[in-house]
Amino acid sequence: MYLRTILWVLIFCLIGVGAVHFREKKIQEHYKLTAITNETKPEIKWFTQILDHNDRNNKQTWQQRYYAYDKFYDPADPGLVFLLLEGEGTLSDNFVAKSYWIELSKKFKALAFYLEHRFYGESHPTSDFSMNNLKYLTSQQVLADTANFVKGINKQYKLSAHTKWVVFGGSYSGNLAAWFRLKFPKVVYAAVSSSAPLKAKYNFDEYLTVVVKSLRAKAPGVQCDQKVQAAHEELVKRMQESPEVVVKDFKVCKPYSEWSKDDLKYFYSSLTDDFAGLVQYDDVSSVGRKSYNYSINKVCNNIFKDNSPYTALVKFRELSRNLYKQSCFNVDYNNWIGSLKNESLSISPERLWWYQTCLEFGYFQTSDKVVSFFGNYFPIDYFEKICKSAYGERFTKKFSESGIAKTNHYYGGADINGSRILFVHGSIDPWHVLGVTESRPNMPRIYIKGSAHCADMYQQEDGDSKEINNARKKIKCYLEKWLHRKTVQ
Ligand SMILES: *[C@@H]1O[C@H](CO)[C@@H](O)[C@H](O)[C@H]1NC(C)=O
Ligand SMILES: *[C@@H]1O[C@H](CO)[C@@H](O)[C@H](O)[C@H]1NC(C)=O
Ligand SMILES: *[C@@H]1O[C@H](CO)[C@@H](O)[C@H](O)[C@H]1NC(C)=O
Ligand SMILES: *[C@@H]1O[C@H](CO)[C@@H](O)[C@H](O)[C@H]1NC(C)=O
Repeated sequence: MYLRTILWVLIFCLIGVGAVHFREKKIQEHYKLTAITNETKPEIKWFTQILDHNDRNNKQTWQQRYYAYDKFYDPADPGLVFLLLEGEGTLSDNFVAKSYWIELSKKFKALAFYLEHRFYGESHPTSDFSMNNLKYLTSQQVLADTANFVKGINKQYKLSAHTKWVVFGGSYSGNLAAWFRLKFPKVVYAAVSSSAPLKAKYNFDEYLTVVVKSLRAKAPGVQCDQKVQAAHEELVKRMQESPEVVVKDFKVCKPYSEWSKDDLKYFYSSLTDDFAGLVQYDDVSSVGRKSYNYSINKVCNNIFKDNSPYTALVKFRELSRNLYKQSCFNVDYNNWIGSLKNESLSISPERLWWYQTCLEFGYFQTSDKVVSFFGNYFPIDYFEKICKSAYGERFTKKFSESGIAKTNHYYGGADINGSRILFVHGSIDPWHVLGVTESRPNMPRIYIKGSAHCADMYQQEDGDSKEINNARKKIKCYLEKWLHRKTVQ
């Protein structure tokens, strides 16, 4: 959906829940999914939601969008509701049709809902995204929305007091799912949290370290990481000697004579984003990259193995450009900052997500630990500057760090102390670094070897690894145990 190249913070589960490049990239790139059947076709509904849960005197409300699926629900055997939380994206019925969550809803005969996050998609609490309105965009308001939603639905559907709600989410909304169970244990019975970066961190320099490691691990014998390193060295050299030729090779939209210093940083950071996106969504069948041969193994073997490193890098950019449907390679930093500052409702959700990261989470994937692979063009100062440019001078490093410390203090970071929360992580996914690292009593963790961001959240497809399929089975088993229910097969 948001396929323009832009510095985006890659986090989505590539779908409504997902992002593609993170600093570039977007979130939802569900191409060509046609799996919506009558059964998985949602009923689109609106919930009257409170604007400010912190101020009882503020009676303002807004309309929050949700999808309802009541086809699996068995009124003769009621008592179970599955709720999928959207994160920093738009509700996507395509995603749901291909999700494991919908399969589980069927298997458990649950009433199912999929709830949009305030400000994103069509769930607009305010008339624009000015700073005065963005003050209502906090994770705590979102959790309070969710609790109020559960309350409202229980009433609307006349559900019994014994009804058990299970909340699901992936990536940022995986955080929300876990935090919802943590902060509202009486409202929600259990949570399944996939690929959740629970620990907020200003300088998330480990992210790109995992990208490099994963390049090495997933294409044995190709030494892909070394090829990338050599390509970067060659690129830097050529950039000094004949930048106009480089600009032509990479099909950059504007001539080198018009580049600013920031454009140069943006250029390097966008090239890095191609690798980040490649690794983060490696081999997840449902995200529509297969026909582009866009997986670590394919890219390393088809492109980096036999070409000279620089040529390989050019070819890889070409492939990414095609995948993301970019007519040329946009490196215009100021133009991008302009779009982050734009307060219009019709602007891409980037303004919202960057705001949340600058305020509460950080997650900035700096180049600090991977200088020899991708250069040192986007250290933490680069991100501080983005926060300040987009949201005002008050968004200094110190300001963000203090917000992040509050987040970790309030939710417990990776040491979250809850119960009946299932965490799922993939070893290839760079975000796993910020997640829980081990199972704890009543908070099991499934670690999927070789798997990418949110891979467990999609329905099973041909070509999925044994490890991912096993993880899906385990998720079902934990739910059977916690809910004291057996599913058919
Ligand atoms: C889906 O629903 C429509 C209208 O309710 C109906 O005409 C159609 O036959 C259904 N399709 C299937 C495959 O059940
Ligand atoms: C992907 O690989 C297959 C077989 O190796 C090839 O036929 C196809 O053209 C490739 N697709 C793209 C978009 O390069
Ligand atoms: C903000 O974005 C909207 C929608 O894309 C556009 O119409 C408007 O001109 C932009 N405003 C500014 C100040 O750039
Ligand atoms: C976790 O929470 C429980 C219940 O609130 C409490 O008894 C326990 O001490 C907490 N554990 C830690 C390590 O904080």
